Amino acid sequence: MNSFTKNNIEKIYITGEKKLTGTVNISGAKNAALPLMALSLIINEDFNLYNVPDLADTRLMSNLLIDLGIKINWKKGILNFNGKPIKDEASYDLVRQMRASILVLGPLLASKGSAKVPLPGGCAIGSRPIDLHVMVMKALGAKIIFDSGFIIGSLNNKGLKGGLINFPKVSVGATESAIMTAVLAKGQTKISNAAKEPEINDLANCLNKAGADIKGIGTSNLIINGVKKLNKVSHSVVSDRIEAGSFAIASSITMGNVEIKNINPKNLSEFINALRMTGTRVDIANNSLNVCCSKRPKPFDVVTKPHPGFPTDLQAQYMALMAIASGNTLIKETIFENRFMHVPELTRMGAKISINHQEAKICGVKKLKGARVMASDLRASMCLILGALSASGTSEIDGVYHLDRGYENLENKLTNLGAIVKRS
Ligand code: UD1
Repeated sequence: MNSFTKNNIEKIYITGEKKLTGTVNISGAKNAALPLMALSLIINEDFNLYNVPDLADTRLMSNLLIDLGIKINWKKGILNFNGKPIKDEASYDLVRQMRASILVLGPLLASKGSAKVPLPGGCAIGSRPIDLHVMVMKALGAKIIFDSGFIIGSLNNKGLKGGLINFPKVSVGATESAIMTAVLAKGQTKISNAAKEPEINDLANCLNKAGADIKGIGTSNLIINGVKKLNKVSHSVVSDRIEAGSFAIASSITMGNVEIKNINPKNLSEFINALRMTGTRVDIANNSLNVCCSKRPKPFDVVTKPHPGFPTDLQAQYMALMAIASGNTLIKETIFENRFMHVPELTRMGAKISINHQEAKICGVKKLKGARVMASDLRASMCLILGALSASGTSEIDGVYHLDRGYENLENKLTNLGAIVKRS
């Protein structure tokens, strides 16, 4: 396991005001690894994934797949998958812990012809419906019913067939569901208004290497010609742009100088633009960033949007930076309806923030002050870590098991950059 354990009572203590300096290596992206791992349900021989982050969520997905009958050998970031699913029912105890478990629905249908998946749980950042996943399955010929908390999918004797999918709303997960289900359907599937996140491109590229026929990768319009079978394949998970962005803010908020390695800067363009507008210097190299800041950040408004817009997964962290800006900032959240849960906790550190529906107004203060705070979800936890890194005194952050879901070796990485971090 990584250095974090899944203990709900653990806390992180951070003594702030240390400039972070040095180099940090970014891990593989959780949000790419999860759908890629689900491909093991449809790539039935010798499927290798490299650069898989060791996180609570990837361990959970691994357990879910093992429970379905997939053989997994996990060694230092490399996963080897073999075998076919032997059952079509996903474990309630595992699925309820992670919303991304819904990603097994399509591959199970494709592989077994039927699927029974409990309604998923996950972050408390909004109602997070699954109607678009269901729309995808129906468009590809599945019958879907809901019974006793389960989504139950079945196919008639013609199996999955290509179809037209026009998303009324951009959804990362539903686009991934559509891709994973359509690759083995009979005939052609056309997807419009698809999400274009780098993690989706990673999934589609891996599938094409395995023999799938997906065109339009990186655009909103995908055309998928179904194939009979997927072949063995090896693939390296794209690096985590959200982890990279979080470390960029860690450098900026502590007036540090950090080199962030193993990333594709193009995947972070809008975020880098915003950071530069706050006065942080960001030097871009081929697969790294140098982030350096020498004065208090300037305010700069952002609106979260689907990729290539400003990512919702960096909104909370960016708010920590704007909490100490030299003026007022507006941050508008357009993806999730309840993603300001970090605000009351940041306020405990002295931030001045008011919320009006989907918009937060942040009146920058000179300095945050260490406090006892409670993390409510994955990215909110990182927001509080960042606030604590810049604050005077020591902060005690509760609910840090959320961090274990998405940040690999966070304590070590921060300590190596000079932060004073302790977990107990
Ligand atoms: C993924 C990411 C998450 C990120 C989010 C948006 C993973 C594992 N998680 O989540 O970190 O914050 O993209 O970039 O990759 N929606 C519906 N019906 C559905 C599905 C979604 O209405 O069936 C709505 C959601 O409530 C939300 C919006 O669509 O308002 C976008 O959500 P979506 O892109 O699907 O997020 P996830 O795939 O769950």
